[in-house]
Amino acid sequence: MPRPRIVLDCDPGHDDAVAIVVAAHTTELLGITTVGGNASLEHTTYNACVLRDLLGLDAEVHAGAARPLVAAPQHAAAVHGESGLDGADLPEPSRGPDGADAVGFIVETCRRHDDVWLVPTGPLTNIALALRAAPDLADHVAGISLMGGGTFGNRTPTAEFNIWADPEAAAMVFDSGLPLVMSGLDVTHTFLATPDRIDTVTALEGRLAGVLADLFRFFSGTYVARHDRIDGAPVHDPLAVLALSRPELFERVRRHVAVETRGELTRGMTVVDQRTLVDRPAPNCDLVVAVDADAAWQVVVDAIAASP
Ligand code: RIB
Ligand code: CA
Repeated sequence: MPRPRIVLDCDPGHDDAVAIVVAAHTTELLGITTVGGNASLEHTTYNACVLRDLLGLDAEVHAGAARPLVAAPQHAAAVHGESGLDGADLPEPSRGPDGADAVGFIVETCRRHDDVWLVPTGPLTNIALALRAAPDLADHVAGISLMGGGTFGNRTPTAEFNIWADPEAAAMVFDSGLPLVMSGLDVTHTFLATPDRIDTVTALEGRLAGVLADLFRFFSGTYVARHDRIDGAPVHDPLAVLALSRPELFERVRRHVAVETRGELTRGMTVVDQRTLVDRPAPNCDLVVAVDADAAWQVVVDAIAASP
């Protein structure tokens, strides 16, 4: 199994928390950087420090951008609660973040290792700022595996939250020329925290399992309450990690993807070119289109079971 070196850039967030768990279990997690998104930067950073303790990790946590490049900050309390991780009794973190310069941490880490994957699972502000701060980053990064976008939206009919929250940053990332792997809503909505799957976590021993079972129940509760019909919350973010560490569980296609930054109805949309015209823009992205959901869920369960 590949054990890619990654920096996880996240906005925990219930599904970001699961991404941290599977990253700890299936990758060489060099560090966690945080961004405002599902909740304020203060909350997402606090939550990352809580998860670090629950996992017994010594990875560094570095806080990043509190707000998008241009857009006003927007959060997702209706999905994740005001704290960003509502629904569980969380322990106070033993220590706070190791720094407040996520961009500097990202750049320094990539220059030091030369084969790091950046795995953003929130708005792409930190990634865009790192690309702007260090044009040589392209020479040092293995690629970017992101959760975001899709051929349909969730925050608007056309735009997925991570892209919608900072379209200018997302456009910089998709136009960067770096190797991109995009796990968008088309695939994440096939990876649901159904009651049966949540029961497999409830059955596990250990404090982390108990906390995650509560978080899954809260997360699925808000999704089920807010949709006509859905069997559980799409567990979006761990797929951006597993696409690198368990590639055999996924199907990908090469596509050109661009980000709309001006449309009145489409700002934040990832425009996926599905045409079969010979004369079309060259693909810039591996679009993840399918996952073996049962096998991926088993990796999540194994990761939780392997943690303290
Ligand atoms: O649209 C889903 C994405 O937005 C996920 O990353 C979720 O955590 C939120 O950040
Ligand atoms: Ca997220």
